[in-house]
Amino acid sequence: MKGIILAGGSGTRLHPITRAVSKQLLPIYDKPMIYYPLSTLMLAGLREILLITTPHDQAAFQRLLGDGSHLGLELSWIIQENPNGLAEALILGEEFLAGGKCALILGDNLFYGPGLGTHLAQNTAVAGALIFAYQVSDPRAYGVVEFDDAGRVLSIEEKPAEPKSSFAVPGIYFYDERASAFARALTPSARGELEITALNNAYLERGELRVEVLSRATTWLDTGTHESLYEAGGLIRTLQHRTGMRIGDVEQIARDQGWL
Ligand code: TTP
Repeated sequence: MKGIILAGGSGTRLHPITRAVSKQLLPIYDKPMIYYPLSTLMLAGLREILLITTPHDQAAFQRLLGDGSHLGLELSWIIQENPNGLAEALILGEEFLAGGKCALILGDNLFYGPGLGTHLAQNTAVAGALIFAYQVSDPRAYGVVEFDDAGRVLSIEEKPAEPKSSFAVPGIYFYDERASAFARALTPSARGELEITALNNAYLERGELRVEVLSRATTWLDTGTHESLYEAGGLIRTLQHRTGMRIGDVEQIARDQGWL
């Protein structure tokens, strides 16, 4: 399995900051935002990772991460010309994936929780698609999963005005070899994007989508608004001070994994 980090987008909710700087390079306390999703993929054991950026931000990301060899990684780079939607990552990444499985993670999503890396690592042989569900107070900004009484998935709706549950889909998705082909078959939504929810629905319609509810011991933050950016920085600072352990420290993870 290879990893893809989607770090383009327009970042309109963080204007005016993101008029000049990529969202995913902004600090979450003491590290650039991209370190957190990168560390999640590293904890899952993935070493071949594609970074997708806007045309104008790629050079800055490359100054930060280079070819990844200092982290025991093999980083590849590709540009997304326009923010055409999350599912476009699978099309842009088709050559990189070379017919293999992939984990796609959003560059502004932060995951923290006991055993999360191990848990993800156990799922890298995914057949079909595996996504997650996480209970949030207001799911309207996300894909929302509806379950029946037996816990089976009935529907996934993108940014519904009236959500059918409080389970949002966090920005980490595991796909088998067919993701790029399914993504190619999608048509843009009303807002002109290739929606990741549409790709997940393509697997759901075939009965090949698994949705796992993330335990409440896991923290998931999407850091795309001023409020959440500030909250995330505070959380990382508090946890690091309290425990003396570092979160999202890619150098340390690379050493712990024995890659250096
Ligand atoms: P979003 O937060 O949905 O979009 P955005 O980053 O453009 O921000 P805003 O809504 O404030 O305008 O994107 C989630 C992640 O995916 C984020 O890391 C940016 C990335 N992204 C892309 O790389 N390409 C895209 O086409 C889109 C829509 C998002």
